[in-house]
Amino acid sequence: MVTSRNFCGILSLVVLCVSLVAAPGSATTLGDIIYSRKAGPGDWAPAYFPHWVHRIKYKCYACHDTLFPMRRGGNPTMAGMSTGASCGACHNGKTAFGLDTCQRCHVSQ
Ligand code: HEC
Ligand code: HEC
Ligand code: HEC
Repeated sequence: MVTSRNFCGILSLVVLCVSLVAAPGSATTLGDIIYSRKAGPGDWAPAYFPHWVHRIKYKCYACHDTLFPMRRGGNPTMAGMSTGASCGACHNGKTAFGLDTCQRCHVSQ
C-alpha cells in the first residue's frame, strides 16, 4: 500500500536521482578538473584533479577552503606542493602517492 508518507519518500528519491543524473556541468556536479596551463611540445600536460575519487575518501572541508578555494583558477605549483601546500598536503608518499609519480597527475587528455 502506498501511503502518502511513502509516496513522498519515493517521490523525493526520484527527484534526487533525476537531479543527480541530469545536471552535468552544474555547480552541484563535481567533475574532473583539468588545469588550464598551456603546455608546449615536450612539456608535462596540465595536471588533472578527479573530484569524485577524492570525495569517496574526504568531506568537502578536508580541502575547502583551507587547501583550495571552492572555484577554479587556483595556481598550485610543484614548488609549493613539495613543501606540503595544496595537493602536497596529501600527495607526499604517505597519505597518498607521492609527487615523484608525475604521470598520475599530468595525464595527456
Ligand atoms: C581532495 C580535495 C578536495 C575535496 C575533498 C573537494 N574538493 Fe572541490 N576542489 C578541489 C580542487 C583542487 C579544486 C580546483 C581548485 C582550483 O582550480 O584552484 C576544487 C574546485 C571545486 C569547485 C569549483 C569547480 C568548478 O568546476 O568550477 C567546486 C564547486 C567544489 N570544488 C566543490 C566541492 C564540494 C561541494 C566538495 C564536497 C562535496 C568538494 N569540492 C570536495 C579539491 C577538493
Ligand atoms: C599529486 C599530483 C601531481 C604530481 C604527482 C605531480 N604534479 Fe606537477 N603539478 C600538479 C598540479 C596540480 C600543478 C598545477 C597545475 C598545472 O600547472 O598543471 C602542477 C604543475 C606542474 C608544472 C608547472 C610549473 C610548476 O612547477 O608548478 C610542471 C612543470 C610539473 N607540474 C611537473 C611535474 C613533474 C615533472 C612531476 C614528477 C616529478 C610532477 N609534476 C608531479 C600536480 C602534480
Ligand atoms: C586531502 C588529501 C588529498 C588532497 C589535498 C589531494 N589528494 Fe589526490 N588523492 C588522495 C588520496 C588518498 C588518493 C587515493 C590514494 C592513492 O591513490 O594514493 C588520491 C588520488 C589521486 C589521483 C588518482 C586518481 C585515480 O584515478 O586513481 C589523482 C590523479 C590525484 N589524487 C590528484 C590530485 C591533485 C592534482 C591534487 C591537487 C589539486 C590532489 N590530488 C589533492 C588524497 C588527496
